[in-house]
Amino acid sequence: MTNRYVSGIQPSGDLHLGNYFGAIAQHLNLQHLPGEQYYFIADYHALTSLKDGKKLKGFTRQIAATYVALGLDTDKAVLFKQSDVPEVQELAWMLGCVLGAGVLHRCHAYKDKVEKGLTANVGLLTYPVLMAADILIYGGTHIPVGSDQIQHIEVARDLAQAFNSAFGAKIFSKPEAYLGTAPLVPGTDGHKMSKSYGNTIPIFARGKALKKRINAIVTDSKVPGVDIFEPDNCNAFSIFELMAPPAQVDELRKSYCSLNFPGYGQTKKLIIEAHNRCFGAAYDRYLELIDLDNTEIDEILKIGAEKARARARVTINKCRKVTGLD
Ligand code: ADP
Ligand code: TRP
Repeated sequence: MTNRYVSGIQPSGDLHLGNYFGAIAQHLNLQHLPGEQYYFIADYHALTSLKDGKKLKGFTRQIAATYVALGLDTDKAVLFKQSDVPEVQELAWMLGCVLGAGVLHRCHAYKDKVEKGLTANVGLLTYPVLMAADILIYGGTHIPVGSDQIQHIEVARDLAQAFNSAFGAKIFSKPEAYLGTAPLVPGTDGHKMSKSYGNTIPIFARGKALKKRINAIVTDSKVPGVDIFEPDNCNAFSIFELMAPPAQVDELRKSYCSLNFPGYGQTKKLIIEAHNRCFGAAYDRYLELIDLDNTEIDEILKIGAEKARARARVTINKCRKVTGLD
């Protein structure tokens, strides 16, 4: 069976290191493996929290430009906008009709977002059903995401099975979460880095803007020359570890454990250098792509939408047939 990697990112804010190390880096690596890749900008999902059309459009373009600047080969991977395939809403409706409503009230992401002050709208509640439709409509087998999405993929697995058994048809197979090496990246406050929590370090930033975000990383009040610093208990060290080569990580680890360590200012300086090394060149390319006079991104998304829609139509036609909606 062909491996189909399917994943989405919401255009609800600037992309950050959590998105990169939790999801995008895997998407880029997977393009070197056999199989098909469908990566989309989850604009329907973003509407659950964002009510500003101009911003939605801007963030959508940003995500596409980020993927391309970081090296996604869009001849191989299908890159598109979720709402360019409206069939996914039709499938979400069909799936919603085989799911008990209680399941959605138990999803952590819903509960967390409502606790953090987001309005408990119907879109936010039924979010996992649309996500299941996103996955199943392209026949997704492997879903490269961060660990916060595991429960949603469980819902997609249950829905695949529930739909098949409700209609006595073998249309869907169960997708699996596909986690990378950094499934939960901490934010500047030590909690999960997330666009909704104001604790992010952007992928693309430099100079003062970057320095401001790195300086916001919360550290403890240990005193250099007196206290021994603990790398495994240090948020700044964890962030550095994501971006730096292993030899540099080892060196900093040793330095933490000696009385010569000058303090967290040193870690933050090294984080800025590592960030520039990882993303500096791609940032220049990103700035070219994001320019509104540049139509490259629009063309890539248009071609992606055509490919994704063709695949989605095959699935939706089967579903219409077994449900009697054809
Ligand atoms: P956010 O939580 O910032 O709104 P999204 O929900 O759009 O981000 O997530 C897009 C992808 O990035 C998902 O695969 C998600 O699991 C991953 N991701 C987001 N934040 C993190 C994080 N802090 N650590 C690891 N992966 C993350
Ligand atoms: N819910 C995902 C997130 O917030 C985004 C998403 C929407 C997604 N549909 C998906 C991820 C399908 C993987 C597969 O991160």
